[in-house]
Amino acid sequence: MSGGDIRTRHDERIHYVSRSNGRRYPVTDYRFVGDDGGLLDLEFDAAFPRELIASRPPGMWRYREALPVPKDEAIVSFGEGFTPLLPVEVAGTSVLVKQEQLFPSGSYKDRGASVLISHARSIGVARLVEDSSGNAGSAIAAYCARAGIACEIYVPEDTSPGKLAQIRSYGASLRLVPGSREDTAAAVRAEAARDASVSAWYASHSYNPFFFHGTKTFAFEICEQLGWQAPVAVVLPAGNGTLLLGVAIGFTELQRAGVIGSVPAIYAVQAGRCAPLARAYAAGLPAVTDASGVWLADAPQPAAWSEATSAEGIAIATPVRGNQILEAVRLSGGSFITVDESEIRDAHRAMGRCGFCIEPTSAATIAAVPRVCARLPKEALVVTLFSGHGLKAPEKLPG
Ligand SMILES: Cc1ncc(COP(=O)(O)O)c(C=O)c1O
Repeated sequence: MSGGDIRTRHDERIHYVSRSNGRRYPVTDYRFVGDDGGLLDLEFDAAFPRELIASRPPGMWRYREALPVPKDEAIVSFGEGFTPLLPVEVAGTSVLVKQEQLFPSGSYKDRGASVLISHARSIGVARLVEDSSGNAGSAIAAYCARAGIACEIYVPEDTSPGKLAQIRSYGASLRLVPGSREDTAAAVRAEAARDASVSAWYASHSYNPFFFHGTKTFAFEICEQLGWQAPVAVVLPAGNGTLLLGVAIGFTELQRAGVIGSVPAIYAVQAGRCAPLARAYAAGLPAVTDASGVWLADAPQPAAWSEATSAEGIAIATPVRGNQILEAVRLSGGSFITVDESEIRDAHRAMGRCGFCIEPTSAATIAAVPRVCARLPKEALVVTLFSGHGLKAPEKLPG
């Protein structure tokens, strides 16, 4: 792979930057938040040398100059990415669907894991901890196995058994936490705080911006697959927003580099039974947390969601980057859509009957597509995705 000059430049220019006060931190730090507990972004200049990109194998690392891992030797990859973008008929409308269920661990989370674990390897991490609703944990465990990094994955006790078996099969240690996804996050943060050392880096896919700089390749691929143009709209799941925020970063980088004219409208999908951001958006709230991440009293309160949703991947009552998700959706000119359990069930069944084996969480996104299309001109180019493979939750496949 060429681009030595660019890599040297990246080395000097990659920093964590605090969202609360703009303070910069070196990316060699074993941290997941700023000293004040605030969220971190990544400062980094992406470049898109199109001829060079076209000369490389079809995979997410073809966008080498846009990925914040300076050394090729650190890259942890299974040759993933460049998933097919297929036309699929959803309730009578044809949309383009990225086949993200075809990733090595069965979900788009591999995009983030490949970049995050490559970064972990480049800074010498030997052991890490992570929390997940299942799929990010599977992805992190797979990439850690490939990198030779020991990992411990915390998941809610009621996570689909297929995902638990998958995490174990990669040799990760698994911690089952009773209660909600938030209880799992609290348990891992307590562990990370106890041992904030090299040996137990909290490689959180919700906090660490390297993960988002992996999921952003979803935007790059769509753009390239459409002949270097942006679609009119993208329909994306919104749990912790690890895809949505990556996609917003990706399209913004493409726009800044002059590759596309504008960022597509982002339609964010939540399950009606767990829709904190959709409700905040509908109420016109500008934010759901204060600067240090504490949930605001006037934001929709998690206690309202006692009923479980079949879309376990987006059952996030207090998303870590909720304010950022609200902002990204508003800035793009999109909005939030909620879907109910019967809509998720119907979309799951309909996609199965078209030959696509997907998870209920993925079906939730598809269920929102007809409503998004109804708001747009008929010829508008709309892109969505199948976010996870159905064999991860075989007990939930429609009969
Ligand atoms: C299959 C699947 N789809 C969508 C999501 C939504 O996640 P996020 O909003 O964090 O990108 C998840 C999260 O675990 C998932 O597993």
